[in-house]
Amino acid sequence: MSYKSSLKNPIFSTISEVADELNFPTYVVGGWVRDLLLDRTQTETDIDFVCIGNGIVLAEHVAQKLGKNASFKVFKNFGTAMLHYKGENYEFVGARKESYRSDSRKPIVENGTLEDDQNRRDFTINAMAIQLNKKHFGTLIDPFNGQEDLINKRIRTPLDPDVTFSDDPLRMMRAVRFASQLNFTIDKQAMLSIKRNAERLSIISQERITEELNKIILSTTPSVGFKLLFNTNLLHQFFPLMTKLQGVEIRNKHGHKDNFYHTIEVLDNISLNTDNLWLRWAAILHDIAKPQTKKYENGHGWTFHAHEFIGGKMVPKIFRQLKLPLNEKMRYVKKLVTLHLRPITLTKDIVTDSAVRRLLFDAGDDIDDLMTLCNADITSKNETKVKKYLKNFQLVSKKLKEVEEKDSIRNFQPPIDGKDIMTLFNIEAGREIGILKTAIKDAILEGTGKNEKEEALQFVINKAKELNL
Ligand code: CTP
Repeated sequence: MSYKSSLKNPIFSTISEVADELNFPTYVVGGWVRDLLLDRTQTETDIDFVCIGNGIVLAEHVAQKLGKNASFKVFKNFGTAMLHYKGENYEFVGARKESYRSDSRKPIVENGTLEDDQNRRDFTINAMAIQLNKKHFGTLIDPFNGQEDLINKRIRTPLDPDVTFSDDPLRMMRAVRFASQLNFTIDKQAMLSIKRNAERLSIISQERITEELNKIILSTTPSVGFKLLFNTNLLHQFFPLMTKLQGVEIRNKHGHKDNFYHTIEVLDNISLNTDNLWLRWAAILHDIAKPQTKKYENGHGWTFHAHEFIGGKMVPKIFRQLKLPLNEKMRYVKKLVTLHLRPITLTKDIVTDSAVRRLLFDAGDDIDDLMTLCNADITSKNETKVKKYLKNFQLVSKKLKEVEEKDSIRNFQPPIDGKDIMTLFNIEAGREIGILKTAIKDAILEGTGKNEKEEALQFVINKAKELNL
């Protein structure tokens, strides 16, 4: 079998020798075996081993055999040991039988057999083990027919799904994550069980939920995951705001688009062009304020006035709730959400250079990402319209390029700063400085002032007189 050639990595023969010396039946297990059988590029370098015996003792002996290049850490509470060797992580655990209490993720643990260990894993495709002891080296032990599920692209639990998911409710998120990453379907029983147990997600920390969510967002077609999150009610547990986008209201025969399905289509579109998680997050949040701003106006139909500004303002709170980073990533997403309609205003035939300069100034180095978002936001079913919009954005990109080449606005810094103004007038810091700084910036962006120091100083003197400052 071809997978055996992947066991040529010397780590496997070292573990095999140590396992025989200790007389511990030992197996490589879990995600690494799954990815091996799927022939999937192994993105992460974590490999899990399980033995019938003491996993920490096994790891200690393996570390000794590997010599000084191996480092080694024990997690006593979990009964596991992590070995780090040549850039790879190897985790060792003794086979266990675990049962969980309904109010906690903390299991009651006893020693167990390989079968016990496989029973308590999340999915059949993650419960396959390959033996490493010399006598049976390379034998695949697959009690739940995970191989067939790989062929049929199916996510199924080894035990009754109610048991598997109540042991660890995060597995409901993992089911959706694997379905989205691998383009698999979740087995009907498991799907029904997730719907029944969705509320149990409440005992899982937001950090762990968001870790899975980000993996869903980074999959090739993330809408697969979001539809499942919505249909199972998982999304309602941790991100109810996004579920509010779903639905269409009709008044006087006017409907608006379903903003949930529109959003995940935008997300799929943008995912064709970027693997940047934060740009994908901007796609998820670009219309988040549409439900709040929705209004039916006679003669106009549905409007969503200022949804981009209100949406931008909502970003920090959403990031805090979802335990996403509150740093420059958040500010980047906020900026893109706030600006996402601006390029549309530049699609008119006649656009002043100053409008183009203002957008370049506001977007700075994120202008290309903003254009990627705007292109992804075109989801019309009408091909002629799509072509027209795309062509318009190409023209906007051209204008942006021309003006940037001419005026270098992207990283624009005004030619004089607050200190220069204070020295010029011999005054202390105060609100006048801000007013004058904004006036210089506006003049340069409008094209009425040059981006040059002497001229800016003269401009400030005139402006101060004019405003009686
Ligand atoms: N596992 C589980 N229940 C969980 C998490 C993990 O049963 N909630 C088991 C599965 O057998 C899984 C293995 O532990 O294959 C390793 O978990 P992890 O490293 O989190 O995931 P992988 O399956 O390796 O997948 P990936 O590397 O893509 O995260």
